[in-house]
Amino acid sequence: MKIISVVGARPNFMKIAPFVQAIKEYNSQSKDGMIEHLLVHTGQHYDDCMSRRFFQELNIPEPDVNLGIGSGSHAEQVGYTMIAFEKVIQAEKPDWIVVVGDVNATLACSVTAKKEWIRCCHIEAGLRSGDITMPEEINRLVTDRLCDLLLTPDLLSYQNLRNEGIPEEKIRFVGNIMIDTMEAHHEKASLLTIEDIIKTNLLSENKFKTVAPHDEKYVLMTLHRPSNVDQYEVLSPLISFLIKDLASKITLLWPIHPRTMKQLKEFNLFEAVANHPNIILLEPLGYIEMLRLNMGARVMLTDSGGLQEECTVLGTPCLTLRWNTERPVSLKRNGGVGVLVGNDINIIKKEFETALGQARIKSRPDLWDGKTAHRCLQTILTYKI
Ligand code: UD1
Repeated sequence: MKIISVVGARPNFMKIAPFVQAIKEYNSQSKDGMIEHLLVHTGQHYDDCMSRRFFQELNIPEPDVNLGIGSGSHAEQVGYTMIAFEKVIQAEKPDWIVVVGDVNATLACSVTAKKEWIRCCHIEAGLRSGDITMPEEINRLVTDRLCDLLLTPDLLSYQNLRNEGIPEEKIRFVGNIMIDTMEAHHEKASLLTIEDIIKTNLLSENKFKTVAPHDEKYVLMTLHRPSNVDQYEVLSPLISFLIKDLASKITLLWPIHPRTMKQLKEFNLFEAVANHPNIILLEPLGYIEMLRLNMGARVMLTDSGGLQEECTVLGTPCLTLRWNTERPVSLKRNGGVGVLVGNDINIIKKEFETALGQARIKSRPDLWDGKTAHRCLQTILTYKI
């Protein structure tokens, strides 16, 4: 059997790493023939800090093909990926194409696969935020509508697909593949020190020589969604909250996404942040460093998808800076640690105070057991259309 799996942007790398490893293990033990596997990187994320370092630390082999798509509008990224990926499919003629997550690569490659009549499997299917203004929601809807096999991380996503009328035989509940990666690197992360992470990644513009905070004495934040960073009216009050309310109480560690960095500078908000003695600005971190900081954070503030899930298992109180989530399993009302706070500063302030006083409560949804990648592979190998 020949499988092509696809990655494009940072959140894909931790999802593909265990799948690639599962194929390697299968091939080392198989008595019924080997799986031929090709890894295609669309190149949507291209910087060392957003891409290459994840391949190295998560032990993902060099991509067999890099489509080199790079930055661009959504239509450009999707369109150029489709043109380039079509050629790969025609040359390689795989039996299956495997896409993960909800980035532009996921959409572009699943559409191209089906137009070439190749079977396509979506790992992390069925997540729905209900917010069609999110580019990722469009990617999820189209991908799940087209794919032959939909592998869901939890039962809520399974139900979402059933509610959309997708037949039962196309859907399998396999668990959360990101947790495989977390389990595999947890021990290594626990050996890192916060001081070393800060020293290695301190942003050059950070004005102060910073003293590393101890565990539970800092808040960790990530922010990159267009809905939070692309408008001054939204970003500016958030920055005021960070400076006036948060950083006056506790240290903030903030690894900055390239999009956010660009917007802070454009809106002239960057200096105020970089000049604050209790805000530590970092370059985008590697996976294991981020995991280590999450393990010791008092509170997480984030608009990321994956971090909400990691907080659930680690128990870090999580303020999700969005009005909706495609991962409701991570919310308090479903046994998780997350609260949706959107970008309303009054709500953020109130929930932040609550979170500061909240204990770490770890929870583990069904099949978030570190063995999802094997279930994904077995399902693909035994699936009959
Ligand atoms: C993409 C994904 C999003 C994911 C996020 C994580 C889509 C629709 N969005 O959003 O789901 O949560 O990645 O990071 O696929 N840039 C660099 N270096 C890089 C990559 C990007 O400087 O290696 C810059 C780009 O030039 C652009 C900005 O960062 O200005 C945004 O990159 P883009 O790929 O458009 O989307 P993300 O916001 O990263």
